[in-house]
Amino acid sequence: MSKVAIIGAGPCGLSALRSFEQAEKKGEKIPEIVCFDKQEDWGGLWNYSWRTGSDQYGDPVPNSMYRYLWSNGPKECLEFADYSFDEHFGKPIPSFPPREVLYDYILGRVKKGNLKNKIKFSTTITSVVYNGNNFEVAYRDKKNATTSTDVFDYVIIANGHFSVPFIPEYPGMKAFPGRIMHSHDFRDAEEFRDKNVVVLGSSYSAEDVALQCHKYGAKSVTIAYRHNPMGFNWPKGMKEVYHLDRLEGNKAIFKDGHVQEADAVILCTGYLHHFPFLSEDLKLNTGNRLYPPKLYKGVVWQNNHKLIYLGMQDQFHTFNMFDCQAWFARDVIMGKTKVPDSSEIEKDINKWVSMEEKLESADQMIDFQTEYTKELHALSDYPKIDFELIRKIFKEWEHHKVENIMTYRNKSFSSPVTGSIGPKHHTAWEVAMDDSLKTFLDQPKK
Ligand SMILES: Cc1cc2nc3c(=O)[nH]c(=O)nc-3n(C[C@H](O)[C@H](O)[C@H](O)COP(=O)(O)OP(=O)(O)OC[C@H]3O[C@@H](n4cnc5c(N)ncnc54)[C@H](O)[C@@H]3O)c2cc1C
Ligand SMILES: NC(=O)c1ccc[n+]([C@@H]2O[C@H](COP(=O)([O-])OP(=O)(O)OC[C@H]3O[C@@H](n4cnc5c(N)ncnc54)[C@H](OP(=O)(O)O)[C@@H]3O)[C@@H](O)[C@H]2O)c1
Repeated sequence: MSKVAIIGAGPCGLSALRSFEQAEKKGEKIPEIVCFDKQEDWGGLWNYSWRTGSDQYGDPVPNSMYRYLWSNGPKECLEFADYSFDEHFGKPIPSFPPREVLYDYILGRVKKGNLKNKIKFSTTITSVVYNGNNFEVAYRDKKNATTSTDVFDYVIIANGHFSVPFIPEYPGMKAFPGRIMHSHDFRDAEEFRDKNVVVLGSSYSAEDVALQCHKYGAKSVTIAYRHNPMGFNWPKGMKEVYHLDRLEGNKAIFKDGHVQEADAVILCTGYLHHFPFLSEDLKLNTGNRLYPPKLYKGVVWQNNHKLIYLGMQDQFHTFNMFDCQAWFARDVIMGKTKVPDSSEIEKDINKWVSMEEKLESADQMIDFQTEYTKELHALSDYPKIDFELIRKIFKEWEHHKVENIMTYRNKSFSSPVTGSIGPKHHTAWEVAMDDSLKTFLDQPKK
């Protein structure tokens, strides 16, 4: 029997565990599986932590989620095909849930099985080396301060890529009298009430951290883009300007000559794909893009087919794409799906990478990742789910954001799994300050 290591018990690692469990339920003989996570519990980024910096063992905190985070995409687009929101909550729920609700949903599926005992928690993978035959995997049990080594036939890398912040430096930062931080360490916007906040970046963190600061009472929020502005109709008190040039005292000076007093600068400048435990020959070297190179079907490492990467793409699609990847990877590992010869692999990767490099608009990117996910879906027995509806919902969602960035989270969509329509939430996002699971689910009776 072969042995598989899964590194990470976040959504991707849990998809992998679930995929093997489903095969076993069908009577198939599955490999021996050990999953490792350096956190004390499962759920990856969704396992919220108040901590920033180091954990109690001195290791960097992987978590980048903040307290009052609400889903930035419709929940219908990430729904599991084999475990609907209706099944988990016993009723349809609104389309943009807060963090705690999504966390509950992610865990609901895996709690049903006997999967937790396959995970070694508080255990950090420190080294993975391929010896020509199998993988030598070293890990550190943080609680007991012990180090061990084990041998695996396959390794699944599911350690996420939104944990290690990319932190640029701009002139004047050293002398800035206020607070400079990365979105990785952002936990709560309360501290920016009545403050002038400058946000760097033009992607999802910049958009959402800026909106959080506005929602919780910042005096002003100035977002600085480097290449392309997000271009939304920002509410009063928010604006978007071109690229930070430097800080001078407490002033942020932008390349278009604009000057803004600042109490805080929040760097929403993205994350690094970081694999300190992998030997160089196994390491994926990429930025945050929709089709990282050297991965066959976005999953199998081109130079060693026993090494699998999950969820390494930039993400429109998330949980059900991770599932499609995990189901496909499981079948490769179990020998049910054959990986073609190296020239076919090269051709397939080049096809996707060259298509990706031509993408210009958000709609094209949505189409690209939907096509990719559909292709993977067709390669395994992952249950039926309506990806055409998901494609349509993503595009409507993009257009809702352009219409009004403050209200897009108040819209409703229908499920690609059950067809049920998400009810309108009882409180508009802009004024919903209590994001607890209880308040979110308790719709006032009509
Ligand atoms: C601020 C923020 C908000 C987001 N919001 C949404 C959203 O609303 N909707 C959505 O669909 N997606 C969202 N995402 C995207 C997010 O990437 C996915 O939802 C999901 O968490 C990715 O799952 P993952 O398993 O790949 O990675 P992660 O969730 O990062 O999990 C990786 C796990 O690997 C473990 N690990 C890492 N290194 C090691 C090691 N060396 N040894 C052992 N264990 C290790 C970590 O402890 C962690 O538990 C958000 C991302 C961020 C940063
Ligand atoms: N509520 C939510 O659900 C929520 C909230 C936040 C984040 N997220 C998720 O978190 C993930 C990560 O998003 P992200 O926005 O952190 O990362 P990202 O999408 O990789 O974007 C990184 C941003 O940093 C900018 N940047 C990089 N270097 C810079 C520099 N030197 N100066 C100025 N800008 C620089 C990039 O701008 P250029 O384009 O100019 O390179 C880009 O806009 C996504 O999956 C997102 O969906 C979700």
